[in-house]
Amino acid sequence: MSRIDLGGLRDHVYRRFALPDSALHGPAHWERVEACGLFIAQRTGADEELIRLFALFHDACRENDSRDPQHGPRGAALVREVHEAGLLPGLERDRLETLHFAITHHTHTIHHPDPTIGACWDADRLDLVRFGIVLDPALLNTEPAILVARGELAHPVGA
Ligand SMILES: [Fe+2]
Repeated sequence: MSRIDLGGLRDHVYRRFALPDSALHGPAHWERVEACGLFIAQRTGADEELIRLFALFHDACRENDSRDPQHGPRGAALVREVHEAGLLPGLERDRLETLHFAITHHTHTIHHPDPTIGACWDADRLDLVRFGIVLDPALLNTEPAILVARGELAHPVGA
């Protein structure tokens, strides 16, 4: 059982988020990414706690809704900061590094063999349908996300 207080962590992240009303990259998007990631994890065994944390932090340090190529590294740095502040109790070093990598590289890297990193990135991409973007199976990592892109599985949060 995780000892992380996700509710408290959400409050901490929301308080410092620069774009609370952003439909593109704000909390509503984070919640859909979490739902998409858990949908994948239930079918692949990916790490559900890391997926929840990825969803919360991956866009948390965006400073605008357009070009912000450093938001991944800033979000990963925030994860380290809250870890050092004791807000991620029980998160082992190797899982912290997996989460840090997934957040740092989520905008610029497409494929990764780690099932949890792949699930995180696919979860973010699955939400692109909200903005009329057609999913390309070649840009996805996990079987469930690829099946959604091919129309063979229902989209977990709708279009
Ligand atoms: Fe995102």
